[in-house]
Amino acid sequence: MAPVMDSVASFISREHQLFIGGEFVPSKGTSRLDVYNPADDTVLTTVAAAGAEDIDAAVAAARAALPEWRALPAARRAELLWNLGTRITELADEFAQIDTLNNGKTTADAMAVDIPLVTGLLKYYAGWATKLEGRTITPMGGSNFHVYTRREPIGVVGAIIPWNFPLLMCGYKLGPALATGNTIVLKPAEQTPLSALRLAEIIREVGFPDGVINIVTGDGPGAGAPLAAHHGVDKITFTGETTTGQKIIDAAKGNMKKMSLELGGKSPSLVFADADLDAAVEGTFGAVYFNQGQCCIAGARVFVHDDIYDEFTQRLVDRVSQIRLGPGLDPDSTMGPLVSREQQTRVRGFIDSGVEQGATIVSDAQSPVPEQGYFVRPTVFTGATADMRIMREEIFGPVAVVGKFSDEEQAIAAANDTAFGLCSGVWTRDSARVHRVAAGIEAGTVYVNTYGMFDPAVPYGGFKMSGFGKELGEESLDSYLQTKTVWVNLD
Ligand code: NAI
Ligand code: MG
Repeated sequence: MAPVMDSVASFISREHQLFIGGEFVPSKGTSRLDVYNPADDTVLTTVAAAGAEDIDAAVAAARAALPEWRALPAARRAELLWNLGTRITELADEFAQIDTLNNGKTTADAMAVDIPLVTGLLKYYAGWATKLEGRTITPMGGSNFHVYTRREPIGVVGAIIPWNFPLLMCGYKLGPALATGNTIVLKPAEQTPLSALRLAEIIREVGFPDGVINIVTGDGPGAGAPLAAHHGVDKITFTGETTTGQKIIDAAKGNMKKMSLELGGKSPSLVFADADLDAAVEGTFGAVYFNQGQCCIAGARVFVHDDIYDEFTQRLVDRVSQIRLGPGLDPDSTMGPLVSREQQTRVRGFIDSGVEQGATIVSDAQSPVPEQGYFVRPTVFTGATADMRIMREEIFGPVAVVGKFSDEEQAIAAANDTAFGLCSGVWTRDSARVHRVAAGIEAGTVYVNTYGMFDPAVPYGGFKMSGFGKELGEESLDSYLQTKTVWVNLD
């Protein structure tokens, strides 16, 4: 097992406060939240549990910072974002270890995925800060007017993020919000506040003006709900569970906040008989089990053509049996624990429900499951029907449900038989089929002969109950800007 770095141990042992107006300040209340190491069920430290008064203070700080931030040359905003990305790269080992200790993910995954994506996207959005432009428009009814549009920041952004990619999710929100000239109050998930607090330290170091970024730790009802309802917040951006998204819509309507919601999924993978089977097995495996299955895009419903169903399923089960469960700090572990006791109980509950409702577990139990920590045995189900909970609800754990189809039409119908519409995978060598299926699937992203690709320049976001508003890419900027139209009479 890799030893905990001195710098990480020293960070964890600090007294954790709220980051408001460029300072670390105590919360107004006295309550604290325990922060766990999911690999061994020990308490790592405690953080402040912000309440409504703390949210008021953070929103006031973000509001006060807005004029200066908007007036700053775009080149300076770009430089600050770029420098934040550079500093995270310099501290990559430290951040990866903090997310491993607090979230459970393997350090290898954090180093391969979370860190390069967060630094890449901060730098990508640094580039956009200097490229935001309006238009001039000639009105169709006459040209005696000079009409132009300005793209302006919305104002104060409230960001509420989940625990599955703790540092990365901070970047998803900070990058586009700051590039476009907004200020922000960010609430990390109560389970995983540590990398956000370490980020707050380097935000100071890098030199962001005070109050541009405020980071408040706390739970959903205590800190998230007052942020979502706050009349001083102009836009809310949320990633998490669909039912929480619905609560946020209710809370946000008081002052008609702009909103973007990145919610749950139950994404399908379709494996056709002509697929490259090696690639399809490996790709489908990653789609389900990466990050312990705790991905909004997890391709957890796998539908396979009858002709290759038996062989595919056996090969997927073999691949799953190679997983080595263990602490994320151990380089021999290929899968860490789930994030929390609650999540472990929830996922085990889904597995039990699958068995009770008549589906069959076909994965063997080769990998020993560590007793301490929030581990769940990776599982493959077959024989599930469309109405079972394991087919319909987001499990958010290492569980695949493999079903069958006999033709393309059936495959598309099965893929779309869900309330969600975040992602989908298609495995086939038939290029005409690729485009038919890509057009037929109701989801924000279709991966063809690959799965789970992310790039800062490429937008993604859900259809149906998976939410609205795109993240990443140029599209994400739209949800952090509002267009003002100016009519000038030339008479
Ligand atoms: P959650 O959606 O409740 O929590 C995500 C964030 O929302 C956290 O920061 C939380 O503090 C905040 N929050 C909770 N209630 C709130 C409220 N009323 N107002 C404002 N903010 C609030 O997710 P949770 O409870 O951690 O996980 C439950 C299930 O949700 C998981 O088992 C998983 O199935 C799903 N989930 C899905 C995610 C996705 O990206 N699709 C991410 C996280 C969880
Ligand atoms: Mg919740």
